[in-house]
Amino acid sequence: MRHKVIVYNKVDSTVIEYLKKTCEVVYFQQNEQLLNNPLFLKELSEAHAILGSRMSVNSSFLDLAPRLKIVSNISVGYDNFDMNEITKRGIMATNTPTVLNETVADTIFALILATARRIPEMDQNVKSGKWVKSNIDEEWFGVDVHHKTLGIIGLGGIGSSLAKRAHFGFDMKILYHNRSRNEEAERLYNATYCSMDKLLHNSDFVCVMVPLTKHTEKLIGKRELSMMKKSGILINASRGKVIDEEALIESLQQKEIFGAGLDVFTQEPVANDNPLLSMKNVVTLPHIGSATKETRLKMQLLAAENVVEGLMGGTPKNLINSEIVLNNR
Ligand code: DGY
Repeated sequence: MRHKVIVYNKVDSTVIEYLKKTCEVVYFQQNEQLLNNPLFLKELSEAHAILGSRMSVNSSFLDLAPRLKIVSNISVGYDNFDMNEITKRGIMATNTPTVLNETVADTIFALILATARRIPEMDQNVKSGKWVKSNIDEEWFGVDVHHKTLGIIGLGGIGSSLAKRAHFGFDMKILYHNRSRNEEAERLYNATYCSMDKLLHNSDFVCVMVPLTKHTEKLIGKRELSMMKKSGILINASRGKVIDEEALIESLQQKEIFGAGLDVFTQEPVANDNPLLSMKNVVTLPHIGSATKETRLKMQLLAAENVVEGLMGGTPKNLINSEIVLNNR
């Protein structure tokens, strides 16, 4: 009997072809409203693996999938997984780290530059005919990025790729705060470890890169924002909920910080009436950190390799819950 794999994301045809070599594949090209789809529920009750992103895999979902052996996320973040429940049931969970590091670091740098130099606002000024004299006024000036201080909260793989760009490309000084020291980044990019408070006080750009867990939810709130420089810029490309969005809105309205560059929001898609969307000093993106053709394909293939490895009795390369007793599978 072949193992049944449900793919619930639009993926490249090469990913489906790869899976079909060893598994039976059931393909749903989108992940909206699937739990209301009787066909999905039927397939889920027989599935050995699921592959996709952003599905809430919690105890009620798992009750619908008694045969599951592996849940494979096409993303590095896995806050959509209830890891206690998954692990308790002896199911493997995997994600797709590393292959997206450089691409997400590019996105973050785009946000840093766009916010500091007010790129979307200036683009709008030109396109709407507001550029009426050749010498622009100071009112339109931005702030420098090069030679400034970049504070990275959560210096893992993506943070290291960001530090590399900041150090070699922009001569920036790098401060970081992390659960543990990143000696490689200290050696290669001259990154300096410090407390979060010191980082917030001294950085021109504060970039939050921590995964969303119950410990990091609202990690950056009113107190933390009030510690940032008035000229400081906050960048978030991790998960929206690591920032207290209401506190951020208030801090921007009170001009306590200069601006923010946001790829992620507490609610996604972000609501049209979210005050952040009407602020000129906030640059927004629709959660596109890793969204390039090349990188998304690499992530999809890695997620598929994790499924095949797990179903074949091996240990998937990106097993998150390595503590599960593999003998029980
Ligand atoms: C990730 O991989 O976690 C990115 O945020 C895309 O979801």
